[in-house]
Amino acid sequence: MDQQQAIQAATGHFGKILQQQLQRVERLKSEGPWTDYSKVRPIIVGVLGGDGIGPSICVEAQRVLERLLQPAIQEGKLVIRVIEGLTIENRAAHKKAIPDDVLAEIKKCHVTLKGPTHTPEKGDPWPNIESANVAMRKELDLFANVRPVRVPKEGIDWIFFRENTEDLYAVGSQGINVTPDLAVDFRVITTQGSLRIIEAAFDHARRAGKKHVAIVTKANIIKTTDGKFLDVARAVASRYPEITWEGWYVDIMSANLINPRRRKEFQVFALPNLYGDILTDEAAEIQGGVGTAGSANLGKRYAMFEAIHGTAPRMVREGRAQYADPSSVMRAGAMLLQHIGFEELGGRLHQALDVCGQYERKVAVTGRSNGATGREFGDYVLATVQDPQLPARWQQYVHA
Ligand code: IPM
Ligand code: MG
Repeated sequence: MDQQQAIQAATGHFGKILQQQLQRVERLKSEGPWTDYSKVRPIIVGVLGGDGIGPSICVEAQRVLERLLQPAIQEGKLVIRVIEGLTIENRAAHKKAIPDDVLAEIKKCHVTLKGPTHTPEKGDPWPNIESANVAMRKELDLFANVRPVRVPKEGIDWIFFRENTEDLYAVGSQGINVTPDLAVDFRVITTQGSLRIIEAAFDHARRAGKKHVAIVTKANIIKTTDGKFLDVARAVASRYPEITWEGWYVDIMSANLINPRRRKEFQVFALPNLYGDILTDEAAEIQGGVGTAGSANLGKRYAMFEAIHGTAPRMVREGRAQYADPSSVMRAGAMLLQHIGFEELGGRLHQALDVCGQYERKVAVTGRSNGATGREFGDYVLATVQDPQLPARWQQYVHA
């Protein structure tokens, strides 16, 4: 292929991407309202174990949810349903990020709790299919990736609103090698996509009585797309006069998060997808590791809750899967409870996880055989979450 042909082929490919994305913008314009779970009966909660350490940590979260929700299940308000088949083996066999029958089952649920799923990369033994996470976020339009990070004793109480469907992720598997030497990926930011995530962040701030929102971009360099994100933020912010906001660049923000003098000032963050991916891993590490952080992937219709980390293939290879920390998926479970209207139960599970994982640590998971197994930690959380003294136990540490 000569250069002219290469450019032509690439331009054609680019045209198709633009078409797809413009169609998506049209869909965003006619998006429905948020699901009102108080009107949904029964609420169907799907559980997907995933790959690697996924099944062993997910089952612990499932046990806790089943216990807490037992009365609701008995009253027919809610159903917990295990969905099989979102495994790398099955996905590889179908050469699909999410096999059709699995996706159909997922769509029958209102919300799901999901273990991490393996994302193949070039050179893997698996076909280089799209990430199941990314596919699910796109397929169910789960645009808000909400990731709280709390270290009460250091005064850290952050919540990240990471945009979840756009940016370099929107067409991350559709980049092109224009020639053997020139590779190009595409970054997508839309007005509608920016608007809904930034509004979600400001709405949260308003509801939670928070005073400050940080918008994180690299708009000094990535002028068009990050520039749009920032413009939309400016417009949204003007509708929330009681909340102050600031734009920050992602590099200095990553430094701020580890600056003990500065970091307490931040409360709510809104940011495009990739910056959010990176900063939330950093933030989670400050809380005690990515194994302790859960996240909500919210769309107006569906929602999915998961750990923020991956499948930990090294742990599995070394035979340590049973020592993996289930806190992350349990946190996700607590967020799930709060999202579907079981506010009090979710709050209690968060408290139990603070007590078990950050304060008392009577049963501590280390990821190795010198620590507890996930099952033992699960038993500890189960006992703690059911302890009538839990609120007092928790208070005592928070004010220590
Ligand atoms: C996350 C993960 C995913 C992402 C991967 C597994 C596709 O890192 O949820 O943060 O990049 O979003
Ligand atoms: Mg990540």
